[in-house]
Amino acid sequence: MLELRLKIDEAVRSIRRHWPVAPKVGIILGTGLGGLASQIEGSHSIPYAGIPHFPISTVESHAGQLVCGHLRGVPVVAMEGRFHFYEGYSMQEVTFPVRVMRALGVEILIVTNAAGGMNPHHELADLIVIDDHINLMGDNPLRGPNDETLGPRFPDMSQPYDRQLTALAQRTALELGIPCRKGVFVAVAGPNLETRAEYRMLRGMGADVVGMSTVPEVLVAVHAGLRVLGFSIVTDLCLPDALEPADIRQIIEVAGRGGERLSRLIPEIVSRL
Ligand code: HPA
Repeated sequence: MLELRLKIDEAVRSIRRHWPVAPKVGIILGTGLGGLASQIEGSHSIPYAGIPHFPISTVESHAGQLVCGHLRGVPVVAMEGRFHFYEGYSMQEVTFPVRVMRALGVEILIVTNAAGGMNPHHELADLIVIDDHINLMGDNPLRGPNDETLGPRFPDMSQPYDRQLTALAQRTALELGIPCRKGVFVAVAGPNLETRAEYRMLRGMGADVVGMSTVPEVLVAVHAGLRVLGFSIVTDLCLPDALEPADIRQIIEVAGRGGERLSRLIPEIVSRL
């Protein structure tokens, strides 16, 4: 417990040596969101490998650095590349950067991901603002001893995604002419994509989109008292009765298309906070 605090403090001290600003917004960039990082002005990019206690990103499509700077005048810190449970990291490792963001001063966390769309209304590259989630990862980053100075033992989850931020996102998307509906995100451990029977079950459970990330980071963010805004990009259509084999290259290409829209939407939202 104490050890976690010490690790957080060490990481914070190291980041502040590169960038002595208190960020207001933290952003986790999922697959396809590279264009957003390039809009951060006066940015200092800190490779994860240079930050004490940060795990090292292993997925090719993720760069693995913290981009610190100003987005539309707002101080932000963005994770270019995240850590996934399926890579073998523990839930504590996956979520360590969120603890660090909070300790740097972040008040609002914006999380993004690529996800499978199970709602028959979805089209490829659609944006979904996450309204709620289901944790089916089979683990939880808050398991184990609880450090009360970081957050409560039994954090409330009646509203993990901030209602005002969600409404702001939808209003802003409408103004920009970007389709963006609300949806429920379900997180699975991965790394395999789902079987038809699994998609049918997940849809029946009430989920609209499915992915392998985000929920751990959101659980820790809520535990730490952050306001959260989440987005999914629909990268493949997961209709159990018309399922095509998944093509990871196509998923990454579609994530890039959705990412372009999200890279217009997020700065506009940040400018209105
Ligand atoms: N399932 C799980 N994760 C995903 C998917 C999917 O269909 N698409 C993109 N990430």
